[in-house]
Amino acid sequence: MSFDECYIKSVMRTIPDWPEPGVMFRDITPLFKDPKALRMIADSFIQRYIDTEVTHIASIDARGFLFGSIMAYQLNIPLVLVRKKGKLPGKTIHREYALEYGTAAVEMQVDAVSEGDKVLIFDDLIATGGTILAASTIIKELGAEVYEAAALIDLPDLHGSELIQQAGIPVYTLLAYE
Ligand code: PRP
Ligand code: ADE
Ligand code: MG
Repeated sequence: MSFDECYIKSVMRTIPDWPEPGVMFRDITPLFKDPKALRMIADSFIQRYIDTEVTHIASIDARGFLFGSIMAYQLNIPLVLVRKKGKLPGKTIHREYALEYGTAAVEMQVDAVSEGDKVLIFDDLIATGGTILAASTIIKELGAEVYEAAALIDLPDLHGSELIQQAGIPVYTLLAYE
């Protein structure tokens, strides 16, 4: 089944002014109620990464988990978690990033990845790029290489994917909302 952007966009839902005025919220939840849409998305990502050197999937709390675990299962490689700060036990490392108002932080366990690993970061959506940049900073500080950052959706007007690429990390997305 080849990827059909029009079909995926017809299944997605946009909620204006949520969670605050001015935001067009791109809601992915209907995709998970539609096995055809989910399969189309998963197959496209698997096709891209099946014959690569990627050794680990790093998926981002929370919506990135939905795609990351499917990818790790299908590629038969380890899944590691990038969580919101304060959720992971043991020795961890965190990095803060800017939100529209204030800051947030993501965290990984220090033994999640190490030198020699080629890590594919997975999230659902790239807006300002802050979340993926913070995750990639941690992965590099742990000695691993970031192979690419993948997400279903890009919001190019917010320039996040541009910023991530300027940081030397390739970006792959399946659809964009201008
Ligand atoms: C959302 C989205 C991405 C991030 C993108 O996550 O799922 O992870 O924002 O924004 P950025 O490119 O500006 O960093 P959020 O933390 O809002 O919520 P979630 O826990 O539902 O994934
Ligand atoms: N995360 C950041 N911006 C978003 C948007 N417009 N829709 C869904 N998730 C988001
Ligand atoms: Mg998220």
